[in-house]
Amino acid sequence: MTQKVAILLSGGGSNMVALLDSMTGDNLARPALVLSNRADAGGLAKAAARGVPTEVVDHRPYGEDRGAFEDALHARIMEYAPDIICLAGFMRVLTEGFVARWQGRMINIHPSLLPKYRGLHTHARALDAGDAEAGCTVHEVTAALDDGPLLGQARVPILAEDTPETLAARVLVAEHQLYPAVLRRFAAGDRTQIHLP
Ligand code: GAR
Repeated sequence: MTQKVAILLSGGGSNMVALLDSMTGDNLARPALVLSNRADAGGLAKAAARGVPTEVVDHRPYGEDRGAFEDALHARIMEYAPDIICLAGFMRVLTEGFVARWQGRMINIHPSLLPKYRGLHTHARALDAGDAEAGCTVHEVTAALDDGPLLGQARVPILAEDTPETLAARVLVAEHQLYPAVLRRFAAGDRTQIHLP
């Protein structure tokens, strides 16, 4: 059965584009909505250009009241009745209340080989640690930050001359391969892990 997908983002949306491009043919996933907490997110125009409905729910009017923001977010998402939420560079920490509403139906991509480097500045931290490889992880979202059952990982080498920027660019290419592959399986009810390459 077709699975309607809402994608949440805050930035340029390159992962979102990779996901949209993959949702064709025998993939059970189909795009229903692209939503951002930022009206200036570059991803919104890219989604609209692909004919996907877009929405903005700005977090700023809610200040510290995360619950109120998330109630508004949830209500707007429910107008599109998605089956799955994909977080794709959505840079707001979600509370237990919101996560519980989507438990088992919300997945996230994070630019590190979890459980290493939860949070921000993952590439600089991998370089500082002298790691030989880096990568990205797709996981089910639980209440703990950048945690939850692992659905897939992709690894890339770290090169001697790497900066956080060059490493981020290499990891991003891997993200665009991993996330669509995981979503395709997830939409089919298959939680088997994917490991790339
Ligand atoms: C991606 O690298 C994604 O892994 C990261 O933000 C970037 C979004 O890029 N997500 C996080 O750091 C979440 N904690 P994109 O907008 O081009 O897809």
